[in-house]
Amino acid sequence: MTVIGDVLIDGVPVSATDAVISVFDIGFQRGYGCFEAMRSYDGSIFRLSPHLDRLEVSAAKLRLPTPDRDSIADWCRSVAEIAGDSVVKVFVSGGTDASVPGTNSRIVIFAEAVRPGSSTMTVQARTAPWHTDGDWSELTGAKALSYGFNLAASVAAQANGFDDALLIGRHGHVLEGPTFAIGWIRDGVFQTPGLEIGILESITRTATIEVAGRIGMTVEEGSYGFDDLMGADETFAMSTLREVLPIVQVDDRKFRAGIGTKGLQDGFAALVEAELYR
Ligand SMILES: Cc1ncc(COP(=O)(O)O)c(C=O)c1O
Repeated sequence: MTVIGDVLIDGVPVSATDAVISVFDIGFQRGYGCFEAMRSYDGSIFRLSPHLDRLEVSAAKLRLPTPDRDSIADWCRSVAEIAGDSVVKVFVSGGTDASVPGTNSRIVIFAEAVRPGSSTMTVQARTAPWHTDGDWSELTGAKALSYGFNLAASVAAQANGFDDALLIGRHGHVLEGPTFAIGWIRDGVFQTPGLEIGILESITRTATIEVAGRIGMTVEEGSYGFDDLMGADETFAMSTLREVLPIVQVDDRKFRAGIGTKGLQDGFAALVEAELYR
């Protein structure tokens, strides 16, 4: 990870080497807190407002106070302007008192260099019994710091020779990747798991659904089993870092990076262009 520029802690710039928060913070001790990762294209953040909305939702679910939205937006824009093409990250820590979350909470914002990625990816399906898969929990829909289970699934899939994991829920539904949403194309229709199964409301997924509408592709959101995915013609990941990325293998089944996915990729690039470079 390469940090570009200073780290802002509660809005105060600190050099990356001096950027520290307390070891007593429950963000560190218990993974209690929330975060966002946003893409800056040439110094402008794509869909800053929906990201800030999601941060507010996450913080509210965790009962964590946050600084006012305009200040957070200004801090994000200021690190993006200096960093240019980058990934801007925001972390709200839980604070230093587990019985009163938010006590001495810190907000940390910095930009990371975009890591060059591959043009396709492979995934291994892995069951995710910790995921609610449609049942409710206090943190359903929150982008909380506690990503240990997700990361362990990625690491296990990578140990088996795949680029990442694909999470299958306790009720058998296709959910999402550890850090991406999933969609596929079957007979020209774009299908993607619905938010009601408790997946993260991905900003990229929302944008890709809009793109599908613009290019005349039918979209269906719902609860899908693994066979629905395996019977598809094409499949792809959607995330801030990957944008729309063809998945060319799920377990032993190969998929082609087809024309439907290409249409969504091109449409997504056009959307970014239209929103940020007008
Ligand atoms: C679990 C999960 N699902 C989906 C996504 C994609 O969300 P977004 O498009 O907002 O980056 C992420 C992003 O990190 C994620 O962690």
